[in-house]
This record gives sequence, structure tokens and C-alpha cells, in this order.
Amino acid sequence: MAALDRLIATMVPLLPRGIVRRVSARYIAGESLAEVTAIVEDLNRRGRLATVDVLGEFVDRLEGVPATTEQYVQVLEVIRERSLDANISIKLTALGLQVDPQFCRKQVRRIVERAMALGNFVRIDMEDATCTDDTLAVFREFQDEHENVGIVLQAYLRRTLNDARALGQKAANFRLCKGIYVEPKRIAWKEPDAIRDNYVRALEVMLDAKSYVGIATHDETLVWRAMDMIRRRGLDPTEYEFQMLLGVDPDLEQVILDGGHRLRIYVPYGKAWYSYATRRLRENPAIAGYVFKNLLTMLSGRARLGRGPLERSKS
Ligand code: FDA
Repeated sequence: MAALDRLIATMVPLLPRGIVRRVSARYIAGESLAEVTAIVEDLNRRGRLATVDVLGEFVDRLEGVPATTEQYVQVLEVIRERSLDANISIKLTALGLQVDPQFCRKQVRRIVERAMALGNFVRIDMEDATCTDDTLAVFREFQDEHENVGIVLQAYLRRTLNDARALGQKAANFRLCKGIYVEPKRIAWKEPDAIRDNYVRALEVMLDAKSYVGIATHDETLVWRAMDMIRRRGLDPTEYEFQMLLGVDPDLEQVILDGGHRLRIYVPYGKAWYSYATRRLRENPAIAGYVFKNLLTMLSGRARLGRGPLERSKS
């Protein structure tokens, strides 16, 4: 299966843009603020919180960066105007981290301070390992001055337990995920069980530090382990949350909500959807595999029903 996924991943650049758009529509909230607002409203109506990501990453020029910053500010304003239960997730490489770190810090300051004024929260996503130290450095600076900033740690990195312990000293607000990028074995666990075990250990470290944790996974075993840990510790549902990506596993979303837990859905949107979709597919052959399955389902559904695919499920 892994070999098939890898083969599919190499074919991604050959797929017509329209097909990539259709297949990724389930995972991406559209291009406009109006579209993402409608998706977040729908999620809120169905008992889910949201975190909005303006698509874009790894910019190599600064020209477009202030526009991205202002897009985030607009998202924050709309969240406030519409009383949405949502926050934002930012990627520092979209704000120029790898071009000019000081410029990037200015953008982060603008976003974080506007969020603070609007009573909102900013999560700093974690990107590939070339960014880990710089991202943590920016987070630490902002954490010292602002309470409304959180960070992400990736369970596949061998350094993560140490980072969790160090950041836990100030009870950082964490999201814990497995990690999406392809990293060398020297620095990252590769075996699925090792990544899972590291995830569980890191979650224990974070909860021991009394940190608020966004438990971000669609892995049922990890969801089970986390729920068990929460129950044994007697945590109140306001002391943590589960997090999932838009469109990945609606059944598991419902299981989590039915268990009385809070669930936040990560909602990416914006004009950079094509590079986001294709990059993710190329970088993570397993995701290319899921998407290919969706494509087949979509095509077979169209053949069966004789109608257009991928109307977003409202269930
Ligand atoms: P795993 O990969 O084992 O997936 C479990 C099951 O979920 C699979 O069997 C599959 O069925 C399904 N699945 C998972 N991902 C899917 C997808 N994209 N499409 C369709 N089905 C899928 N990473 C990172 O490096 N930095 C970050 O900042 C973040 N932020 C983030 C936020 C949130 C809210 C989530 C849920 C995830 C992230 N990630 C991330 C991504 C994360 O690191 C990881 O790659 C994915 O969540 C997949 O890992 P799982 O824990 O779901 O396990």
C-alpha cells in the first residue's frame, strides 16, 4: 500500500487543476472570506469550534506578506462581528520567517495584538525541521508578553519530549500532532508505533505541566489513549480540546463530541489552495493514498448517481 501511495504521490503534478480542486474541496474551505465564514458558521452550529488558516507557506519574497497579515486581521474581525467560536492558526514561513525574521516578527506582532484586542487566540503552526528552532524562538518571545499565543509540537521529532518539558515550565498552550513533513530518520521517529508512543508521552508531559493541549489527531488509538488519560486525571472539558482537520473523519468527530469533549476543526482557506493541496500530496504519500481513494469514491458516486461530485456533506 505504501508503494502504491508513493506512486500516486509522484503522479500528483500530472493531475489537472480541476481534479485537484475537486478532490481537495472537502479539506479546504474555499478561496474567500465569505466561504470560510460560512464553513465556520456551519461547524459552530454543529457544535464544533474552528481554527482558521490562511493558506500559504514558505514564501521567498516579502511583497505579499503584509496582505497575508491583513487577511488574518480580517478573519479576526469577522470572527468578532459574527460571534464565531473560532481562532486562527498562522504559519511563520508565510509571514517571511525564512526571508527576514525581524519582518516576520512584526507581522506576528500585528496579528497577535489585534487578536488580543478582539479577545482572540493565535496558534503558531509548526512547519518542517528547518523552522523548528526559529519558530520556538518567536513563540517564546510572544509567550512572555501575551497569553493569547500557542505553539504546536510534532510527536515524530525526537526532540519533542525535551521541548515539551522546557515549554511546559511556563505551562505553554500546546497543540500536539504527529507531524506532516518528511524528515530524516536522524531527527524523526519513523515507525508508526514509536510516533504514537512519543505522542502519548508528550501528552503526559504537557498535562503534567497543567498546560492546555489541543490533541490533534485522527488516529483512533491516540484518541482512545487521550480520552483514557483525561478520564484518569479527572480533567474538565475546558482544560483541553481535541482537534481535527476539516473533512477528514466526520464519524470520529461525532464520537469525540458525544463523549462530552470539545472539538476544534482546522479550516484552511485562500487562494494558495493549489500549492497547499499538491505539496501535501507530494510530501505525504499516505495522504495521496487517502485522496486517491476519495477520487475513486467521487467518480464511482458520480457514475452511480449521475450528478456532480463533492457537494459538501451537511450531515
Ligand atoms: P494518521 O496519519 O495515522 O491518520 C489516522 C487516520 O486519519 C488515517 O488512517 C486516515 O484514515 C486519516 N487521515 C489522516 N490525515 C488525513 C488527511 N489529511 N486526509 C484524509 N484522511 C486522513 N502537522 C504539522 O506538522 N504541523 C502542524 O502545525 C499541524 N497542525 C495540525 C492541526 C490539526 C488540527 C491536525 C488534526 C493536524 C495537524 N497537523 C500538523 C498534521 C498532523 O501532523 C498529521 O499529519 C495528520 O493529522 C495525520 O496524523 P494523524 O494523527 O491523524 O494519524
